[in-house]
Amino acid sequence: MSLLKIQGPCRIKGRLSLPGDKSIAHRLVILSSISLNSTLIKNFPLNDDCISTLRAFKSLGAKIAVYPREKQVKIQGKGLRGFKKPSLSIFAAESGTTLRLLLGVLSGQSLNTKLTCARSLSQRPMLRVTQPLRKMGAKIYGRKNLQKEEFPPFLIQGNKLTAITYKMPIASAQVKSAILLAGLYAQGVTRVIEPVKSRDHTERLLKAFGARIKIRAGQVLIKGGKELLSPGEFYVPGDISSAAFFLVLAAITVDSKIVLKNVSLNPSRAGIIRVLKRMGANIKVTRHMSQVTKYEPMGDIEVKSSQLKGTAIKKSEIPSLIDELPVLMVAACFARGKSYFQKVGELRVKETDRIKSMLENLRKMGADIQVTGSEDIVINPQGWLRGAKVKSYGDHRTAMSMIIAGLAASGTTTIDDTTCISKSFPDFLKVLKAIIK
Ligand code: S3P
Repeated sequence: MSLLKIQGPCRIKGRLSLPGDKSIAHRLVILSSISLNSTLIKNFPLNDDCISTLRAFKSLGAKIAVYPREKQVKIQGKGLRGFKKPSLSIFAAESGTTLRLLLGVLSGQSLNTKLTCARSLSQRPMLRVTQPLRKMGAKIYGRKNLQKEEFPPFLIQGNKLTAITYKMPIASAQVKSAILLAGLYAQGVTRVIEPVKSRDHTERLLKAFGARIKIRAGQVLIKGGKELLSPGEFYVPGDISSAAFFLVLAAITVDSKIVLKNVSLNPSRAGIIRVLKRMGANIKVTRHMSQVTKYEPMGDIEVKSSQLKGTAIKKSEIPSLIDELPVLMVAACFARGKSYFQKVGELRVKETDRIKSMLENLRKMGADIQVTGSEDIVINPQGWLRGAKVKSYGDHRTAMSMIIAGLAASGTTTIDDTTCISKSFPDFLKVLKAIIK
């Protein structure tokens, strides 16, 4: 437990380069490990979740060298089927992306593996992934509850897979990615149809690694059976989900200005930029054009203090800003006029129930925030928050969002436990301290 005390309001000034994008980094480790050659990954984020993915593929036999000072990782792949059986079970810790994407890769191997995880992840729903994988022929054995939902740990018996067409009931990049990865091992063409486009890093990177993949409106097709070849080198753009905290803090505090360098501008992740602009934020985005940005767009973002106005975030926008919703709730508390976030029920199955955690915390700080029966959030702002005793619920994004709330609020805010921040951004507090004036 590490209690944090914050005195608000603050102002921030500075230029920052952020750790590489967590979602892209996971996928680069996976694809590099199952490719035939070697990959150098630059600006690799050494957070708890990405370390879980590195450990998992190390235990499967990929040759992985980590250079923390250079923020680089070098991986010599083993090909699609070159893994060895790990001596122990593979431990995904609290990383949902590690666990769900691994299910896709391990289903098509010719070895048996056991996949375990830490407490909070062991309570998150997995049927959304195991169901389509079983349709492909995967032999996965998990833990079921009375409602027939499925949870880790998992036993996976490698099997021959067959392509499917799968219409996803929910928009989830983790589910889509697990199916596409399994599709690499399947006979035939696997087709995934999405209700709303979710982050497309897996598709972009599969293309970069030479997979036979086609991206059509609302669907992705992948033909199995072809080995992958790495283009050799990648730079991971700064994580837009980490950038979100600084974007909001600069916008809602007086006399602030921040420049974030080399941030991911992938349109399937950039919902926060579009929404903040709509709210009237003073944001300037400069896109970079270079070899480095060939697979994933990247650029600089400048934000200055702004008078925000309320907005309505539609259901179709949610996947492009799913992880930024908690900090957008904070932003909405400082706007003029009501905000509506439509159908945000997926927040209930993140590291914690983020509707519950954010409502409880923001109400303690004086916010008028409600959730309706259809999981819409309504915020009727006063334009201020006041310091209070709040809780992270062991969830990194709740913790960081409440730190931003505390820094913009008047008075003292205390947060019970901030150790969870290392899941995505271990240096968050250090970086933040350097820009508070
Ligand atoms: C992620 C997808 C999202 C997101 C998570 C990372 C990914 O989850 O919330 O933090 O890297 O694919 P869902 O696929 O469950 O929406």
